[in-house]
Amino acid sequence: MGKHKLNIDTSQSSLDYNNSTLNTQHSTLSQILDIQNLSTGYDKKQVLFGVSLQVQKGETVLLVGSNGSGKSTLLKTIFGIIPLWHGAVSFQGNTLHSYPKLKTPHSKLIMKKMMYLPQKDELFEDMNVQENLEISILHLRDAQKQKQLLAQLFEDMSVLKDKRQQLASQLSGGERKMVSLGMALLNKPNLLLFDEPFAGLSEDNIDMVIRWLETIKQNGTTLVIIEHRIKKLLNFADRVVGLKLGRLYTDNLQTINDIKQFLV
Ligand SMILES: Nc1ncnc2c1ncn2[C@@H]1O[C@H](COP(=O)(O)OP(=O)(O)O)[C@@H](O)[C@H]1O
Ligand SMILES: [Mg+2]
Repeated sequence: MGKHKLNIDTSQSSLDYNNSTLNTQHSTLSQILDIQNLSTGYDKKQVLFGVSLQVQKGETVLLVGSNGSGKSTLLKTIFGIIPLWHGAVSFQGNTLHSYPKLKTPHSKLIMKKMMYLPQKDELFEDMNVQENLEISILHLRDAQKQKQLLAQLFEDMSVLKDKRQQLASQLSGGERKMVSLGMALLNKPNLLLFDEPFAGLSEDNIDMVIRWLETIKQNGTTLVIIEHRIKKLLNFADRVVGLKLGRLYTDNLQTINDIKQFLV
């Protein structure tokens, strides 16, 4: 990681919230995630109905929808936490899950470079920041490499270095989010599924999260982000897709007005 100095130069970023339009500059793309006709739910209650979505490598997709539309369920199903009722999920050209089986448990997906950050982070409360970060890269099984990655992260994210001995249970919401982002930076996933990165954060913290998301994106990570704070992310996203009553709509969500109309 030494040569991958994290870049938080925001001068190149397009955080112009008032004049939000989609960032549509794609480079040459190839498919990283392919969801085909996915249906699922809980017990007898169906939540997702025939969802199909293809995500290109390097893309940032913003997933919108009103509460209960099935957004979190979709990310959980991609990550193999919830079984499929129908359909298939492929990642980097391989089928991960197809009805009726979760072929790849989520514990294995991190090694395949897929990462999921749930809305409510799952930090180990009685461990400190450094220990939580270390656990997120245990799967690398290379102590030297783990040490190096952590040292680099502390250099890049001084807030984590300053708090490294502090217990997770004693962190503020913003600091907890920084730990989650630190995990994403350490792991450099090919695909990051992020459920409501701004939930419970102040405006300042939201801007900080966006800057780190920019860095993660610049590292080449493909992002699927659920957020209600659409204006904040519209410049950052390449594409917006919407869920309504468990059905996915992928067309005509270009502007804030399109999205507002979709949400009502
Ligand atoms: N663990 C669960 N058990 C039963 N029903 C659930 C569970 N999680 C979510 N649901 C239901 O599934 C629907 C979709 O929820 P969710 O995917 O969390 O929506 P969103 O993230 O868009 O708000 C809602 O009706 C919700 O009540
Ligand atoms: Mg949700």
